[in-house]
Amino acid sequence: MTVTAWPGLADDLVHELVEKGKVAAPEWQAAMRAVPRHEFVPKFYEQRDRQWHEVTADSDPERWLERVYANAPLVTQLGELHHGGIGPTSSSSAPGLMARMFEALDVHDGDTVCEIGTGTGYNAALLSHRLGDGKVFSVDLDGELVEQARKNLHRVGYAPHLATADGTAGWPGGGTFDRIIATCAVNRIPTAWMEQTREGGTILADLKVGTSTGNLVSLRRHGNGAEGWFVDGFSAFMLMRGETHPPRSGYPKRDRQQARHRYTSVMEKRPWESPVWWFLACLCMPSGVRFGYTLNLETEQPEAVSLSCPDGSWCEVSLDSTRDGRKVWEAGPVSLWSAVEQARDIWSAHGRPEWSRLGLTVTDRAHVVWVDRPTGPSWTLP
Ligand SMILES: C[S@@+](CC[C@H](N)C(=O)[O-])C[C@H]1O[C@@H](n2cnc3c(N)ncnc32)[C@H](O)[C@@H]1O
Repeated sequence: MTVTAWPGLADDLVHELVEKGKVAAPEWQAAMRAVPRHEFVPKFYEQRDRQWHEVTADSDPERWLERVYANAPLVTQLGELHHGGIGPTSSSSAPGLMARMFEALDVHDGDTVCEIGTGTGYNAALLSHRLGDGKVFSVDLDGELVEQARKNLHRVGYAPHLATADGTAGWPGGGTFDRIIATCAVNRIPTAWMEQTREGGTILADLKVGTSTGNLVSLRRHGNGAEGWFVDGFSAFMLMRGETHPPRSGYPKRDRQQARHRYTSVMEKRPWESPVWWFLACLCMPSGVRFGYTLNLETEQPEAVSLSCPDGSWCEVSLDSTRDGRKVWEAGPVSLWSAVEQARDIWSAHGRPEWSRLGLTVTDRAHVVWVDRPTGPSWTLP
């Protein structure tokens, strides 16, 4: 198959996304059919055997074209990560995720949109197709990416406003937009985004506690704040550069001899596999929680799950249970397993809600997560 086959591949992708319920609006379907994603992703990186491999139209034309028109995120830039290793620093997000975000953004003809995280420029092209170049603004911290995105966009006939700047400050020089959409995750909604979204406008961003717990939230600006709902489904954007990453070291050494012990009635072994419950639990833990297993030294098989935080708090919870429940060992200033238990109790009492029953209120004082209504059970972001 050659690249001239792309319109058929784009059409197949749109069909797949429609069938999976990721895109319904004809306008977004038309944009995804019209914008050639391969012009924005001339190469990407895949990890095999713990090594990154470059895939280009020259090195492996079949695989390149097939992946570019698949519903998959593609790593488009490798660089130094916050902890010093090499890994993804930019990517073209999965088209299905972008389609879901565009639907959640609920744009109307004439709206202005500011995107935080230009990357390849592909999303900016979709937005430009839908709204017109003059209505689209996109900012990325990385000047090389922005220049490459500009070339990509021009080659296929789009010219939105682009800027190189730290998107934490919104559009450089200010502005007022109908919509702000972030394609990198944040720990907090930056004040500048609130200031640059018009009254009644929308901010759509991936809110993460730590690096990986959280989800997309769609907020309506009103008065001095913003309020709205989390969005069902899953998103895993890379954390915005400049946000607080959990440290790589400094976690406590776990010594059961020094720990308090008790029993728990929580039988679910891996709470982190229930994203909403785990998110609520993390809101009550110190930042930077890590989870894993403790191995039995004789069998070398996991015998307990473990949680630990850089503030010195840790717990281990046996995988086996006795008549009293599962044994918990814990130490440090915060009872991490109590956070898991309390979040489970509230989550269960409310019928184990999915993401879309969780809301967020942002004011200049706090970010408050709630269930069903702002006056329901609530948690203030640490
Ligand atoms: C998932 S990629 C964006 C994908 C892009 N929307 C596309 O269509 O290809 C995330 C982008 O966020 C950018 N980024 C990270 N931290 C940023 C910051 N503080 N300000 C602006 N952009 C940032 C990265 O350089 C990266 O290009």
